[in-house]
Amino acid sequence: MFGSEQQAITDKINAFFSENDIPLVELKWTPVPFSGEWGVSTSFFQTAANEARSGIGRGPVPARAQEIAEQAKTWLEAHPVIGIHHLEAVKGYLNLYFSTPEYTCNVVNTVLSQGKDFGKGAPQGERVMVEFAQPNTHHSFHIGHYRNAILGESLSRLVEFAGFDTIRASYPGDIGLGVITVLWIYDKFYRGQEPADVHERGQWLLKLYVEATNLLTEKENETPQETLQRESYDAERRDMYRKWDAGDPEIRRLWEETRAWSLEELRVILAMLEIDIDVWFFESEVDEPSKTIVTELIERGIATDERPEGGAVIVKIDEKLGLKKDKYRTAVILRSDGTSLYLTKDLALAEEKFNKYHVDRSIYVVDNRQSLHFQQAFKILELWGFEQAEKCFHLAYGFVSLPEGAMSARRGRLVLFKDVADQAIQRVLDFESEKTSDLSEHQRLETASQIGLGAMAYAMLSVDNNKDIVFEMDEALSFDGHTGPYIQNAHVRAASILKKAGTRPESAAYNHRLDSHEVQLIDLISRFPDTVQQAAQEYRPLIMAAYAYDLANTFHSFYHAVPVLKTEDETVRQARLRLVMAAKQVLANALALLGITAPEVM
Ligand code: ARG
Repeated sequence: MFGSEQQAITDKINAFFSENDIPLVELKWTPVPFSGEWGVSTSFFQTAANEARSGIGRGPVPARAQEIAEQAKTWLEAHPVIGIHHLEAVKGYLNLYFSTPEYTCNVVNTVLSQGKDFGKGAPQGERVMVEFAQPNTHHSFHIGHYRNAILGESLSRLVEFAGFDTIRASYPGDIGLGVITVLWIYDKFYRGQEPADVHERGQWLLKLYVEATNLLTEKENETPQETLQRESYDAERRDMYRKWDAGDPEIRRLWEETRAWSLEELRVILAMLEIDIDVWFFESEVDEPSKTIVTELIERGIATDERPEGGAVIVKIDEKLGLKKDKYRTAVILRSDGTSLYLTKDLALAEEKFNKYHVDRSIYVVDNRQSLHFQQAFKILELWGFEQAEKCFHLAYGFVSLPEGAMSARRGRLVLFKDVADQAIQRVLDFESEKTSDLSEHQRLETASQIGLGAMAYAMLSVDNNKDIVFEMDEALSFDGHTGPYIQNAHVRAASILKKAGTRPESAAYNHRLDSHEVQLIDLISRFPDTVQQAAQEYRPLIMAAYAYDLANTFHSFYHAVPVLKTEDETVRQARLRLVMAAKQVLANALALLGITAPEVM
């Protein structure tokens, strides 16, 4: 049952409540599992309990709930609502049953008339900002960044589709010691040697970073000369950071030039993933405003300035909150040399998001190693009196590795997204070339890329975001099991049935006895709009990933068990064809919310 019909019934019952002076409670409907017919159910226990509590109770709660249910039943029979076949009042519940052909028709027609918009929620009147795809610059885009990007994009699509006004934001870390480290070594040893290709440039910067870290890290058994050398390198790097801070034009120019390389690679990858960022924030841009906040925090006694004693500016968060135990600990918000920290900049960023973009909720898609960081940031904002602090939410996710082992940027052991994607697409192409197909070269490439990327996306989204992922290429690309290609294949199967059928019936009656596979399919399709709402409200793309799998699985079973094209009876054939059309549409809608394309052929 969809929103509008539910509303019609709710309105009727509310009318009954006010007619009978029964205090109104918000009605909640739950679907009744199919047992020959579909229905929905609501309970009157809350209503009866409220009466009892307010002293106007009439007898024991269960008996009173049943009494109300019976009265509501009588009322609805006298004031019928279209589509309801019969009613039942049992044990304090009111059950409404629909006529099966009408209900099925309604589900299928709604899907087919709304098409891409089926499942879309009414405007919620709230604006949500989702911040994701925000890697550090002077670095390359690795598989962990990919998990972030796809999680953030799927979440954005979900909240947008659920009816929230949605802003996609990115916040690349374009300044900090890591960035300066790359700048230093480039300037010292590599000027003018950068490769031309965007992706190679990213990887090259990463190589520089590894080499620089190596030169700058103290080693065991260093000779006095080596120590001297390392210390002088470090002094150069620090000096460079100071110059950047002071706005030295030469250093700034060098910084901007190298930063542009990384941002270019980021934009190329986002385009490939069909991610369109609305607002770009940069760490370097909130650096100054964050220092103003520090001054205010000191003035108001929230932060402690220990600089006179050679220390830093700190916030003793637990102490300020009156907590006895260690929870948020003490955070440094300004170094002794006056430079800001990552945490400091997040204070200014939060303010900018709410005040400039008027968002109602702010979601940060960032890996779970930064959980304490965000708890601290949100608590300091709260101490500062920033009311919207409670509207900030850190959507954390776990680490991604390959069976070969964990990644380490410092050691240069990184699995780059572009490499994995190229490999996934190539594997699909190799596999496809073994099949005879009448696809053009262009179609073949396009499909391979849809399948390869779909496999990767689904492998990321079908795991609870808190869990780590070991990405297994063969498993992800498999056409069986919980994979992207398995779901895409259901869509392709539906497309091929429709192609073979030639015609697409404009309407159909569902007067035949429904097969249990048909029932399950109709059931799942009708649950799509609620699933969208649930996934969006809980910020959990996983809910949609699981739904897409269930729908594909149900469709595959239907395909094997129920004849469509071979059905003799023309009305049944039309009914099933329209059901296939509806299933295909909902599969596509669900995949779209996961950032996965639904191919017509594969
Ligand atoms: N650039 C950071 C990183 O790569 C992520 C930024 C997260 N967002 C934030 N508001 N702190 O670790």
